[in-house]
Amino acid sequence: MVALARSTHLPISDDSDISAFKSDVLKGLGARRKHLPPKYFYDAAGSQLFDRITDQPEYYPTRCEIHILQDHGAEIAALIPAGAALIEFGSGSNRKARILLAAAPVLAAYVPVDISAEMLEQEADALQRDFPRLVIRPVAADFTHSFELPEEAKNAAVRVGFFPGSTIGNFEPHEAASFLRNAAKILGPGSKIVIGADLIKPAEILNAAYNDEAEVTAKFNLNLLARINRELGGNFNLATFEHHAFYNRERHRVEMHLASLTRQKVRVAGECFEFRAGETIHTENSYKYSPESLAALARGVGWQPAGVWTDARKYFSIQAFTLAP
Ligand code: SAH
Ligand code: AVI
Repeated sequence: MVALARSTHLPISDDSDISAFKSDVLKGLGARRKHLPPKYFYDAAGSQLFDRITDQPEYYPTRCEIHILQDHGAEIAALIPAGAALIEFGSGSNRKARILLAAAPVLAAYVPVDISAEMLEQEADALQRDFPRLVIRPVAADFTHSFELPEEAKNAAVRVGFFPGSTIGNFEPHEAASFLRNAAKILGPGSKIVIGADLIKPAEILNAAYNDEAEVTAKFNLNLLARINRELGGNFNLATFEHHAFYNRERHRVEMHLASLTRQKVRVAGECFEFRAGETIHTENSYKYSPESLAALARGVGWQPAGVWTDARKYFSIQAFTLAP
């Protein structure tokens, strides 16, 4: 975990990040069903590609969530008491936080937390220019592990979590429960959390959202192999892998895979992995919830529902939860 001081240059990753990446990749590629954790999509190139995905006409979640925030920002911001610290998990481009911050009272601090350190620093600088009086304390960390909050957030009267983007959907449901349990520990008694979650909807809409015509999602998926080549000395030939994404109706999730077009051998960090023609690496799940299924999951780990907002088509939801004092 790296707590970023404002305007200080920081390393993008340290040795422990690289060795965690290496061991997760070797483990995932060595498994009977090959898989890779989606958190590794977000190197500098992957973060930029994700931003481009959010502008694709088929990728509705970002536009829907922004509409909900614009239409109900005042009600959602009313959950944030003056003097609170707002902690955003997976802040990316801060686009949604900007809307909430504009409607929120004076805060003790805004703490964007992201695994993509370079983007985190750039976006925090840009946000500071637009919100000059806001105390911004970015933290470069993996939010699936415990991490230390900056003093301003620890000392605030109360802490409010913000987890937009349906990033919660990239966890297995049991991991989402663990995340919420960990968030409760980090934020402390009496805290609140505002979560953006994509909703279950017809397969055609979901399939289109993850197979945009401009193929930006395909580039985002393939960038994971390019990252392995760059950082772990891999020799993946990207032209021999293809992006596959489809809605799995039974499990309420969009699955992303990279399918090998041929029988081949690939070396990564000195180890050899064999692929059959058509064999896939499962790179991401994006679970879709109903307001009720997310509330049940949150309730199970101590978070009480405190509000639900959706767009007119009920494509996306923003849900608030509180923790007993
Ligand atoms: N909140 C933004 C970005 C969503 S994309 C939005 O709503 O548009 C997901 C973000 O979470 C990315 O910025 C990615 O770098 C970050 N992220 C993914 N897994 C993470 C992890 N394990 N720890 C910290 N950040 C993570
Ligand atoms: C960040 N996360 C919620 C996105 C999603 O929709 O699951 C990542 C993404 N993957 C493909 N397109 C976008």
